[in-house]
Amino acid sequence: MSRPIVINNTIKDFNKKITVDGDKSLSIRFALLASQAIGKSRAYNLLKSEDVISTINCLKKLGVKVKWDKKNNFCEIFGNGLNSYNFKNNLILNANNSGTCVRLLSSLLIKSPKKIKLVGDKSLSKRDMARIIHPLRKFGANFYPKNKNTLPIGLKGTNYLRPIDYLELKGSSQCKSSVMLAAMLAPGETNLKCKPSRNHTELLFKYLKIPVKIKKSKNFELIKVKGEYNFKSFNYKIPGDISSSAFFIVLTLLSRNSELILKNVGINKSRTGVIQILNKMGAKISFKNKKIYKGESVADIYVKSSNSLKSINCPSKLNSSAIDEFLIIFLAAAKAKGISKFINLEELNKKESRRLDWGSKILSMMGVKNKLINNHGIKIWGKPNLELKKKFEIKNYLKDHRITAMSTIAALSLGGNWKIHDPDSIKTSFPSFFKILRKDLNSKIY
Ligand code: S3P
Repeated sequence: MSRPIVINNTIKDFNKKITVDGDKSLSIRFALLASQAIGKSRAYNLLKSEDVISTINCLKKLGVKVKWDKKNNFCEIFGNGLNSYNFKNNLILNANNSGTCVRLLSSLLIKSPKKIKLVGDKSLSKRDMARIIHPLRKFGANFYPKNKNTLPIGLKGTNYLRPIDYLELKGSSQCKSSVMLAAMLAPGETNLKCKPSRNHTELLFKYLKIPVKIKKSKNFELIKVKGEYNFKSFNYKIPGDISSSAFFIVLTLLSRNSELILKNVGINKSRTGVIQILNKMGAKISFKNKKIYKGESVADIYVKSSNSLKSINCPSKLNSSAIDEFLIIFLAAAKAKGISKFINLEELNKKESRRLDWGSKILSMMGVKNKLINNHGIKIWGKPNLELKKKFEIKNYLKDHRITAMSTIAALSLGGNWKIHDPDSIKTSFPSFFKILRKDLNSKIY
């Protein structure tokens, strides 16, 4: 357990260039795909966060050789091809806090004849696994006990895999990617029809020449994957994480006379909902030095303080591309002029904590009027002159890393005396968060 942090001062004006940690989605996908490739793959700037470490530790337990040279900032994974894990019966794999790890890794185990127990921490053990159990059972995998849909759970693969047809209606990339990875192991062609969501798995499949066909229809992506294709090892440079960047972007927007450049961040369109939403609210966030790296867009992000944010009636079609950023978007809405409305966000209460409820709770603590709309939306009455003076204590939040970051940014931009428990939770996704705030941006965090 980490000691609480205390923040009693808003941040002073800043004009800086920073680099945030590597992208979590790409780091986990690199590790999983490299473990199924033939040969030694190397990633530079792999995110050194607990979610990624949990993924690597699971792979090691599955017999995969991993060399992580943290000093030189690269990680090598030695793959032996599809379905080549080598381990003993009744292996326990602990994904700790990582939904992406457990939901994507399960797919790579559906051909294994040995029993595996999948476990996670308190937060992950509350999260729905039915969303991947159902399709993976259709491929032929066995999960037990039969009617259990949360961790801990048992998994045993089969030698008799078959391809499936799959319909994804949540806009969840974890669900889509889980089926795509399972399809790699199955014979024949798996067909997916998915609501749009982050497309890193598709781009990596294309880059690795794994047989994949993608068509876009009006509201869906149609994806076909041909299985049993062995692919070669690869190298990858992980760009900065837009989800981590979002906290510094909003910090800059809500602070006075400040400017920030975030270097080399992944700006894949399926991830930049937060930028579109903030720009619709009147921010002027721009991208410079844009380039395409192995199918992914990367750029430097430029942002300046704004004292004229306006409310938004947020189009639900942006939800999936901003799904991890809503807490910090709610904070921006709290200081915007007018009433903001966000709907169709039922997935938010299924994250590491009940994030929609927590967003509402923290705004209410701050004296910002808001109203939850059933279990899927929120209305926020913005206060452009919002300045906090009271005492705030954030605790018992299931150590949700995005709540740690959101409340820290609220404290540094809006004032008040804050005590935030379990600050180490941030290590799940963004281990350099406090270091950047203290060293690069000179903020006072005790
Ligand atoms: C992720 C997808 C998102 C996101 C999570 C990472 C991924 O979850 O919330 O932090 O890497 O695929 P869903 O796809 O379930 O919305």
